[in-house]
Amino acid sequence: MTLSWSCQCHDGKARAGTLHTAHGAVQTPVFMPVGTAGTVKAMTADAVRATGANIVLGNTYHLMLRPGAERVGRLGGLHKMMDWHGPILTDSGGFQVMSLSKLRKMDSDGVTFQSHINGEKFRLTPERSIEIQHLLDADITMCFDECIEYPASHEEATRAMRLSMAWARRSRDAFVPREGYGLFGIQQGSTFEDLRAESAKSLTEIGFEGYAIGGLAVGEGQEEMFRTLDFCVDMLPESHPRYLMGVGTPSDLIGAVRRGVDMFDCVIPTRSGRTGRAYTSQGILNIRNARHAEDTGPLDPECDCPACTRHSRGYLLHLFKAGEMLGPMLLTWHNIRYYQTLMARLRAAILAGRFDQEAESIQAKWAVKQE
Ligand code: GUN
Ligand code: ZN
Repeated sequence: MTLSWSCQCHDGKARAGTLHTAHGAVQTPVFMPVGTAGTVKAMTADAVRATGANIVLGNTYHLMLRPGAERVGRLGGLHKMMDWHGPILTDSGGFQVMSLSKLRKMDSDGVTFQSHINGEKFRLTPERSIEIQHLLDADITMCFDECIEYPASHEEATRAMRLSMAWARRSRDAFVPREGYGLFGIQQGSTFEDLRAESAKSLTEIGFEGYAIGGLAVGEGQEEMFRTLDFCVDMLPESHPRYLMGVGTPSDLIGAVRRGVDMFDCVIPTRSGRTGRAYTSQGILNIRNARHAEDTGPLDPECDCPACTRHSRGYLLHLFKAGEMLGPMLLTWHNIRYYQTLMARLRAAILAGRFDQEAESIQAKWAVKQE
């Protein structure tokens, strides 16, 4: 059997389920830390595991440029290379080509681009993207798609969505099914209801092991993203996992789980951790703020991570001011742990039939501003 998902329980539109993959089971809703270049930045694989995360994301785009997909294959695949033996989802590269590469040239067959690292020329097609994700040994492979900017005209969004659907068909044909492995389709169509419906219909007709929502969190803002999720999530099959790509803040995650999304990835916890921004039970704070200089208390009194249980705010601020690597490492650890705790609480609340109350009690505490 290919990768599968089973639903344990609904609470409104929110779902608690389990994803069964070649490298183990994953309870949903789930947040996947981003391990772009074969590492969750500033974390060892053991540390990532210790946060409670049990699935991570990798990137076709970065790994094909460096060290190269064939080389990752010769090094034993991404799991062995990273010492990460849980499931891995890889993004297909289309989105990163658009946001990172230089001198892109798109045609209906694929995209030719120059590496953002050294200008070297590369080409990605649906077939090559699927081959690369196979070489990486991704448990979850993503279709090759085109994600456009926001705002986009209806005409431009139609063109890009239809191209992505043609590429989804080619991705499906190129994907070789294996036990516990799966391919996810990606819905596009910007914030247009008719386009999201057409995209969902095309993907459902092809048939995938899961369905992603692409093209959101690209500058439309939370209100517009939620307005779009209000209709586009329901268009995807209820029987399969739904993954909102590149999202988001804790508040985004709560709102999207409420609207029926099961899976997420985002650089926010890792990237902001490296700059000293912490997501805590009491809201967002920046540990570099001078008011923490002689604070002997923990970063987050409700957190059980090493940054919070073994160190003071004063010490963490010192590490950042001194440019010590341990500062970004500890804040990354904390932020990932915070995200894992958040998702575990949401899941437990869905199972207990009290999602709204739990979401409310989590968000009420954020009113205590710490900035
Ligand atoms: N990451 C965030 N959004 C997207 C998207 O629309 N497509 C892909 N492939 N990756 C994404
Ligand atoms: Zn912590």
